Amino acid sequence: MFMHMRESALTYFENPPYPIMSAQIIDGKAVAENLRESIRQAVEERINNGLRRPGLAVILVGDNPASQVYVRNKKLACEKAGITSFEHTPPADISEADLLALIHELNNDDRVDGILVQLPLPAHIDEESVIETISPDKDVDGFHPYNIGRLMIGKPTFRPCTPQGVTRLLETTGVDITGNDAVIVGRSNIVGRPMAFELLAKDCTPKICHSRSKDLPAQIKQADIVVAAIGKPGFIQAHWIKPGAIVIDVGINRLESGKLTGDVDFEAAKEVAGYITPVPGGVGPMTIACLLENTLESARNRD
Ligand code: GUN
Repeated sequence: MFMHMRESALTYFENPPYPIMSAQIIDGKAVAENLRESIRQAVEERINNGLRRPGLAVILVGDNPASQVYVRNKKLACEKAGITSFEHTPPADISEADLLALIHELNNDDRVDGILVQLPLPAHIDEESVIETISPDKDVDGFHPYNIGRLMIGKPTFRPCTPQGVTRLLETTGVDITGNDAVIVGRSNIVGRPMAFELLAKDCTPKICHSRSKDLPAQIKQADIVVAAIGKPGFIQAHWIKPGAIVIDVGINRLESGKLTGDVDFEAAKEVAGYITPVPGGVGPMTIACLLENTLESARNRD
């Protein structure tokens, strides 16, 4: 009996139900560093030409520890790129009216090219009101309905940073993704929904799946490109993935051990996928680089 089990296990590993190959790891950290360096040079050139230094205002409401880390990283990245950052850290109990007044003030401040309100916000503040109060021409997060609408009609202005970062990573693979079937898992306004329009602009055929989608593994199995943005550690299984597919993991989940991990079972999936992003070091660094790029673009628009 024992021998029999051992033999069948060996047979399984010698003849797995999918071809064993090792994916190319997409190095988001390196791509982001290159982009940040090119932004730093462009900012330096602006200053040498007597132009204004770009400025980004970041508003962090309250003391959410994860948001504090994200905001600190954004601030540091600005400094390194030569972009001025203006930090505002109102307490968690700030009224919505006071927060909107601060945004109006920043809308009218000529030193400020970009305004970013770190999400999530405390429950008593309406996220839509906040996003819609940011002037669309300073909305470097690309969350304002005007900017989302522009992306949707294929005439983008500011594109949301994470989906934009994913597109840039897809470009670095050099793979022709024209006509590819893409499955996005997650329908958030920040990632899932805008990602569909990023992929449509690349002539892919995007499908947004979510927690109510039927037979998610079967849907993913059809996909040449999988973008995982659900926020569940290791949720996407290797045997759901089509051999050779491009797998982009947007998840940033902190395990109890403190370790960061994505939405994809990376160790197993990298033996099936053609290309895959790691966590950390994949999509995460691209989000900040794209934020800097949007801020530089805003400064150029406002020269
Ligand atoms: N919270 C999580 N991601 C983001 C982001 O890209 N921008 C903002 N403003 N808040 C976030």
